[in-house]
Amino acid sequence: MAEPVLALSNVEKIFGGLRAVGGVSLEVRPGQIFGLIGPNGAGKTTIFNCVTGVYVPERGEVRFLGRSIVGHKPHQIALAGIGRTFQNIRLFGDMTVAENVMVAAHHTQSSGFWGAMLRTRRWSEEERALRKKAEELLEIFELRDDAEDEARNLPYGSQRRLEIARALMLQPKLILLDEPAAGMNSREADKLKDQIRWLRDRFELTIVLVEHNMQVVMGVCEHVHCVDHGETIASGSPVQVQNDPHVLAAYLGTEGEEEGRPSLEMVARMEAESGETPLSARSGQTPVIAGVETRADAAGREDQGGGEDQGEGESQGESERQGESESEDDGDSDSDSDDEDEGGSDDDEPGAAR
Ligand SMILES: Nc1ncnc2c1ncn2[C@@H]1O[C@H](COP(=O)(O)OP(=O)(O)OP(=O)(O)O)[C@@H](O)[C@H]1O
Ligand SMILES: [Mg+2]
Repeated sequence: MAEPVLALSNVEKIFGGLRAVGGVSLEVRPGQIFGLIGPNGAGKTTIFNCVTGVYVPERGEVRFLGRSIVGHKPHQIALAGIGRTFQNIRLFGDMTVAENVMVAAHHTQSSGFWGAMLRTRRWSEEERALRKKAEELLEIFELRDDAEDEARNLPYGSQRRLEIARALMLQPKLILLDEPAAGMNSREADKLKDQIRWLRDRFELTIVLVEHNMQVVMGVCEHVHCVDHGETIASGSPVQVQNDPHVLAAYLGTEGEEEGRPSLEMVARMEAESGETPLSARSGQTPVIAGVETRADAAGREDQGGGEDQGEGESQGESERQGESESEDDGDSDSDSDDEDEGGSDDDEPGAAR
């Protein structure tokens, strides 16, 4: 079997007394679309942050294309070929959509500062190639008509697609997508599946997808790995994982199997049939499934001081999500004082849309 693009072995990340990731091992094969799922707080984003150098794991190994990347800085890892998007969107809000995409790749130009100042032929050629690539990405993500608009004015779902487009400008070999369907309506989420497949084929990418929207996960992933409380509870084909009793128990907050309990497949189907954007997609929370409240939802509501009646529509939650982006936990949270590299997450990608 081909060497894995990404291999984690016994990765552990501890925040104070909390084992956010407690010895996770996984392997992502070349060209694979790999789903990483689990309830809220399971450790998914922390795993991404351990891979991208935002956090250095206390224990374990992270290998990218056979080489250890533990201890490497986020910008080194990004340039080595691991791209990512963030659970909380990070764009340059007052730059245009096109500029947000172009800016990601400018420092990869070999013609450098003087090339740009003197507008040398090599600089012009590189600039033209970058522009072509940016246009292609904007086209596939249906952002071309918005190219000259300020990023902050885009609907939420479009901002998520813009983040993916920007991450691709660095020509990653592996891309980590953290809840790309959050905030998308069900039509957009459906399209996202095709776009993810297209990306993989067009850019010969390997993709790791963290997502709560089960329609997207089950529709597009070839392998699904489920974590809960920082530990692996299932790993296998989508069918295997969606029928795994441990996975159902983790999502539904119950122990053991009971007849008549919905499987994740049923969850995905119910979401599709109702045509509703799952709560997961609107709020970034684990879905409320046909009246079944998950443990994570209950916890999330407690955290947020009351249930939110999230409205429909892709732009819902935009302002509050933008506001959250500085305080949430994509890795640059200041709340964890025992972490080595937390502040580094801004090094690897441009800042949040503000
Ligand atoms: N910087 C941090 N400092 C302290 N605790 C943290 C930090 N980042 C994450 N945690 C905690 O680690 C655990 C895992 O968090 P993580 O964000 O990785 O979960 P997740 O699976 O991405 O959840 P979600 O689906 O809600 O995004 C949670 O209990 C979280 O509160
Ligand atoms: Mg997360």
